[in-house]
Amino acid sequence: MYPLQRNRRLRTNAATRALVRETTITPNDFLVPLFVVEGQDIKDEIPSMPNYFRYSLDLLVAEVKSLWQLGLKSVLLFVKVPDNLKDNKGEEALNPNGLMQRAIKTVKNACPDMLVMTDVALDPYSIYGHDGIIENGVIKNDATATFLANMSISHAKAGADIVAPSDMMDGRILTIREALENNGYTNTGIMSYSAKYASAFYGPFRDALDSAPVDKINIPKDKKTYQMDYGNRLEALKETEMDIDEGADIVMVKPGISYLDILRDIKNNVNVPVAVYQVSGEYAMIKAAAEKGWLDHDQIMLETITAFKRAGADIIASYFAKDVVKLLNT
Ligand code: PBG
Repeated sequence: MYPLQRNRRLRTNAATRALVRETTITPNDFLVPLFVVEGQDIKDEIPSMPNYFRYSLDLLVAEVKSLWQLGLKSVLLFVKVPDNLKDNKGEEALNPNGLMQRAIKTVKNACPDMLVMTDVALDPYSIYGHDGIIENGVIKNDATATFLANMSISHAKAGADIVAPSDMMDGRILTIREALENNGYTNTGIMSYSAKYASAFYGPFRDALDSAPVDKINIPKDKKTYQMDYGNRLEALKETEMDIDEGADIVMVKPGISYLDILRDIKNNVNVPVAVYQVSGEYAMIKAAAEKGWLDHDQIMLETITAFKRAGADIIASYFAKDVVKLLNT
């Protein structure tokens, strides 16, 4: 006798497939990373990130308005800091009139209801391209956490809704949470990059911000003393649970597509929203293969984004956000 279940019945045509599909994508799923630079009238394509740009504040206005019109309501801001403002301790990051602080205000003025998240990390401000303050060739954990707390207050003061520490220092979520509470920013949220791996997929991002670790004697040339070893799985859960205990409102897995197992593990074990970051190298790979005509850009893009959500992501940070939403609208 034939099996009573013929699974292909529910794949017969597009309408049936749409009816039974478990995972669907909407604009609400996305967090849009934005790169900001000093200057005027600048919309600079990032060479290793085709069709992705660094914006000066004047042109950022139109960009966030167009995101808003597409239904993209959350952005994550990164700044490219001029070389002459970089040092070891990130002094410029605390400047109330710094690029990040002005960028926050610019977005809020352009789109008052846009959710503004900010990158909280030292590397764009560091002459060494590291996420920590360096003393005698060592990344100083606790001094960096204190610095990140001050940076978070500065962003909150400028109007950020959620700060997003992307550094992987120990204990920084607690330090930041306490600083925010003590300064009256009780409603400012924290999205922690909680399971962030030391990954080669960040290359194009470091080009975009000119933030790669420098190659100097006595200074680590990679981020392996603070970002996680990609051979590890249990550690991701430990990091994430600790960050939630310390006050993280949202946690994150990063990179994305090579870490779907971690994403699912975390989704199954925590009760806060889980974000995933489809990072610059993932974007670059798809763009490059599509340019060569080896892969179908839009199909691959949708497949990866759907995979994140299926694997448990509540929030997807992706350079494809705008392209995906445009495609969904057609
Ligand atoms: C650094 C930071 C990185 C990214 C976000 N914040 C790179 C790094 O850790 O060196 C990567 C994002 C991407 O590759 O898209 N604080």
